[in-house]
Amino acid sequence: MPRPVVLITGPTAGLGAGYARRYARDGYNLVLVARNVERLEDLAAELRAANGIDVEVLPADLTEAADRANVADRLTAGVQVLVNNAGFGTSGEFWTADAAVLQAQLDVNVTSVMQLTRAALPPMLAAGSGTVVNIASVAGLLSGRGSTYSASKAWVVSFTEGLANGLGDTGVTVHAVCPGFVHTEFHQRAGIDMKSIPNFMWLNVDDVVAESLADIAKGKVVSIPGLQYKVLTTGGRLVPRGLVRTLTKGFGRGRDRT
Ligand SMILES: NC(=O)c1ccc[n+]([C@@H]2O[C@H](COP(=O)([O-])OP(=O)(O)OC[C@H]3O[C@@H](n4cnc5c(N)ncnc54)[C@H](OP(=O)(O)O)[C@@H]3O)[C@@H](O)[C@H]2O)c1
Repeated sequence: MPRPVVLITGPTAGLGAGYARRYARDGYNLVLVARNVERLEDLAAELRAANGIDVEVLPADLTEAADRANVADRLTAGVQVLVNNAGFGTSGEFWTADAAVLQAQLDVNVTSVMQLTRAALPPMLAAGSGTVVNIASVAGLLSGRGSTYSASKAWVVSFTEGLANGLGDTGVTVHAVCPGFVHTEFHQRAGIDMKSIPNFMWLNVDDVVAESLADIAKGKVVSIPGLQYKVLTTGGRLVPRGLVRTLTKGFGRGRDRT
């Protein structure tokens, strides 16, 4: 039996690296997609040596239409699992942020998820099996924390839930993973100061990966790793939206992040 193939965007750091290591341990062949070729090659060598699997390196900047099209072509050839993980946030206010960075954020966090999922589904449907994992965020479930980033993740959650209903009992499933704060390179890259966040709000990569994949195995469409974030998001659904905005503004300021 050939090994199943998983294509992961953004595996050179953080959560994507965690999913890559876990799928490699589980015996999948990997296709790794990100910009940093040296980090991609290093990870590929590590995972081949440790697990005896095949790893393809597919360098791509997902802000570029031509690169997204290359990745889409690879997906059209067929994979069993697509993990749309690459994504980023930025700091500063929306009205002063670089318009090109805001567009790039939309390209990676939204357009790439839409285009790569669209490319992956036909061969999955033809095979009658396949899994799409979209990394969203708690920010996509709670209103009032930042602007464009939260909106992009709300799109991912809504897209996933609608698509999950559409896929029905085709054998192909789609899932949104909504982590809270996770120790990765995300906040440093975004230039967001996280000193005020209490320890109990932080998750680690391996726990998020393990819990989300366990949820996916159970068929959950929306996975929210960590008890603290299950409580927070359940509370957020039960109280009026205006109160959620007030609370998130108090807790995370709701400013200086886009
Ligand atoms: N960390 C958190 O607290 C947190 C919470 C909720 C949700 N998330 C979500 O989790 C996902 C992973 O984030 P992370 O925390 O693991 O962040 P991270 O450590 O900064 O890793 C981000 C990954 O995305 C890739 N990437 C960024 N821009 C890209 C582009 N233009 N083209 C291709 N790849 C690109 C990076 O690779 P290269 O630089 O090599 O291209 C890197 O591998 C994101 O969707 C993020 O929104 C994170």
